[in-house]
Amino acid sequence: MEQLLKQIEDIKKEITAAEAANAAALEEFRIKYLGTKGLVKQIMGEMKNVPNDQKKEFGQILNAFKIVAEEKFEALQAGLGDSAETDTGMDFSLPGDPTPVGTRHPLNLVRNQMVSIFKRLGFAVAEGPEIEDDWHNFGAMNLPEDHPARDMQDTFYVEEKTADHSAWLLRTHTSSTQARVMESQKPPIRVICPGRVYRNETISARAHCFFHQVEGLYIDENVSFADLKQTLYFFVQEMFGKEVKVRFRPSYFPFTEPSAEIDIAFGSGPLKGRWLEVSGAGQVHPTVVRNMGLDPDQFIGFAFGSGLERLTMLRYGINDLRLFYEGDLRFLKQFN
Ligand code: PHE
Repeated sequence: MEQLLKQIEDIKKEITAAEAANAAALEEFRIKYLGTKGLVKQIMGEMKNVPNDQKKEFGQILNAFKIVAEEKFEALQAGLGDSAETDTGMDFSLPGDPTPVGTRHPLNLVRNQMVSIFKRLGFAVAEGPEIEDDWHNFGAMNLPEDHPARDMQDTFYVEEKTADHSAWLLRTHTSSTQARVMESQKPPIRVICPGRVYRNETISARAHCFFHQVEGLYIDENVSFADLKQTLYFFVQEMFGKEVKVRFRPSYFPFTEPSAEIDIAFGSGPLKGRWLEVSGAGQVHPTVVRNMGLDPDQFIGFAFGSGLERLTMLRYGINDLRLFYEGDLRFLKQFN
């Protein structure tokens, strides 16, 4: 008993004198005195050898001893403070590794803007396949086999043409999506169809073998050419500003009659005063309406189609279309 008390006193002195210069030393202290096999636990284990009449007194001594060890540990820990973290080999105050966040592609910026402008006019967005059959890309659009207008939209064929013209091809315009919408929905139909299209063209600053379009279609019982004009005026002014002039120039498309090309002219800037083509448009041809299973005497409407690259180039003053597809970060980073 005497001996045990002496031992406790010695350990207490040791504890009082202990120091911890770093986290490792602190951990050593904890293991030595407070760990599951530490001295405090060991001495506590002596309790069972203490005669019953002394158990109460001895219990108090042991408790005080335990508290001395615990308080010392806390004091040492507090003394180390922040430097305890440094000892883990990490400095939590350093800035983290930057996560590079990309920017939107300029074509998507303009596409999203177009979608939001036409949404305000009640147009829904429709998408369709890029690999298309002959019917949806050409036939339904009043471009039968051997029609000379097919020359303007030569494309890439996925398979040899078969006798029933069921060749698969890369769509030349998103009008094919409009054909699919008309098959599956009843008028009134008001959709825009953004998407990638393909043409067999020589690659240059102004043309590529693929590009993007946003085409629109409105079919109902009483749609007029005035509706078409107002819709496109609204779009152009929302996109390019109120000072922009718009003109409709007579044109030809097999799927519209009458047809027009839409030109705009800026009131200022480097392109000031020049007429620039931005869209094709027209009243949907009765044959196209009939091809979609609707009666052209009852349903009428308009369609339009714009090249997204062209609009984006005008919008941002870009002079080479190939820049859009090269993935050059110096170019892409400018559209923040
Ligand atoms: N589909 C035409 C093209 O790709 C664009 C267009 C759409 C023209 C609708 C008129 C009406 O060239």
